[in-house]
Amino acid sequence: MSNQKQEIARRRTFGIVAHPDAGKTTLTEKLLLFGGAIQEAGAVKSNKVKKSTTSDFMEIERQRGISVATSVMAFDYAEKKINILDTPGHKDFAEDTYRTLTAVDSVIVVIDVAKGVEEQTEKLVEVCRMRKTPVIVFINKMDRPGKEAFDLLDEVEQKLLLPCTPLSWPIGMGERFKGVYNIFEQRLVLFRPDNKQGRPEETIEFDDLDDPELDKLVGEDAANELREEVDMINEVYPEFKREEYLDQTISPVFFGSAVNNFGVKELLDCFVQIAPEPRPRPTEERQVLPNEDKFSGFVFKIHANMDPRHRDRIAFLRICSGTFERNTNYLHVRQGRKMKFANPTSFMAAKKEIVDEAFAGDVVGLYDSGNFKIGDTLTEGEELHFKGIPSFSPEQFRRVYNGDPLKSKQLAKGIDQLMDEGVAQLFTRTVDNAQIIGCVGALQFDVIQYRLEHEYGATVQYEPINLHKALWVTCEDEAALKAFEERRRQHIGHDKEGRLVYLADSAWTLQMAKDNHPEVEFHSTSEL
Ligand code: G4P
Repeated sequence: MSNQKQEIARRRTFGIVAHPDAGKTTLTEKLLLFGGAIQEAGAVKSNKVKKSTTSDFMEIERQRGISVATSVMAFDYAEKKINILDTPGHKDFAEDTYRTLTAVDSVIVVIDVAKGVEEQTEKLVEVCRMRKTPVIVFINKMDRPGKEAFDLLDEVEQKLLLPCTPLSWPIGMGERFKGVYNIFEQRLVLFRPDNKQGRPEETIEFDDLDDPELDKLVGEDAANELREEVDMINEVYPEFKREEYLDQTISPVFFGSAVNNFGVKELLDCFVQIAPEPRPRPTEERQVLPNEDKFSGFVFKIHANMDPRHRDRIAFLRICSGTFERNTNYLHVRQGRKMKFANPTSFMAAKKEIVDEAFAGDVVGLYDSGNFKIGDTLTEGEELHFKGIPSFSPEQFRRVYNGDPLKSKQLAKGIDQLMDEGVAQLFTRTVDNAQIIGCVGALQFDVIQYRLEHEYGATVQYEPINLHKALWVTCEDEAALKAFEERRRQHIGHDKEGRLVYLADSAWTLQMAKDNHPEVEFHSTSEL
């Protein structure tokens, strides 16, 4: 058991979030290089959907295949075991990213120095704030002209609502970029472009920034500017305290250039010192602590094989407590039956391998033939239900029809499984039994159509439907809820789990319903 305690204490499980193109893939790759998990640049496949077309998305999915090596990347560094969970960058798959954020203990946000804080980053950080996940900010592309460092810190505070404090500070930017001063360790790190294979950086210790050596190294003007700015930082920004970062009351900020492998080592060295160990996780029943003797975990992602000849899937399980062991019976809580796994996989960057045991903080991939859905819990016997893995109220809707009456079974199965994977949500409207699929982004409709055809041999036809929002409804007063259902018959439906949903056709009808039925609560996530 002491082994378990030590193993858990050295796990650092995090996600990198960014607006597409800010440099998430590049940064991930450099981190893997430092960890020795890959040997050369270019090994990490971007999961970016560049053209926003289905064929592009499918191409990427096919290339990734079930090897999904890029979904979880693990490596050892400074005696820590680092697990990086990959998040899709495309906004139409934001829901997938939100759910991945339920499985991490901390987050690194990458921001492009020229673009500053972008919309998608705001949404993702909002989820981190809600979950009180500690955040480190990395401002990337310092080798390019961009916004002033102080202005960027203001943006981080105003748009991301993250009080922050810089732990490194840039000397110039773009063509005049000379390096960063590491405030955390009081060292100057000189910039040398094209350090692609991660050679050791040139660093110089400075106890005293007034040392004339600094002027020699970066020039008098840049040295004076740095001195003034560091004085200002010391006056304006709070001193960094790890407890405050762990409570998410402060976010440290780093500057660098991922493609040049500059500032990445500083980030990683600081990360392993400050980032949280596996954190406790709430369930409906109680708080689960990582160090408990007994194993528990939940499924946060399901990845299907796009190859119709091998229609297996991998369910990604985040271990929340104890030790997971191969070929051991665990309780699948929703199904109320025992299951064991002969080939659980872990992911060491480019290769995946079968694991005999894994610890709280780790993610294992379980081969699945349709038993799992997002949010499912495995335990050693206790009936636990992990919280905080919601579905989000979708914003795009299509009515679905069966395009081939001979394949209705295939269609039903396909839709059922895709919904369990969390690709979209299925609602049934009560008045006419209309089947409605709701998605966060429109690209998902094409993906569903394509996958139903290629994986299940079924044809789905869509028709536009006039819907504004689908919101889950609850009401403590049963009679009042009945009355509401009667009065709003036209707009009532159920989700796949049978939960009551209000299908509003406009913002106006929604407002009317809320005004007329103040006793009824409307929820934008399925976690009520
Ligand atoms: P993403 O995963 O967040 O979407 O971003 P990704 O790492 O793919 O980076 C997006 C683009 O930004 C890439 O160029 C990448 O080379 C570039 N980039 C990343 N870090 C830096 C940096 O520090 N400085 C500069 N100047 N550029 C950087 P691309 O042309 O879109 O792709 P590629 O063909 O070069 O891979």
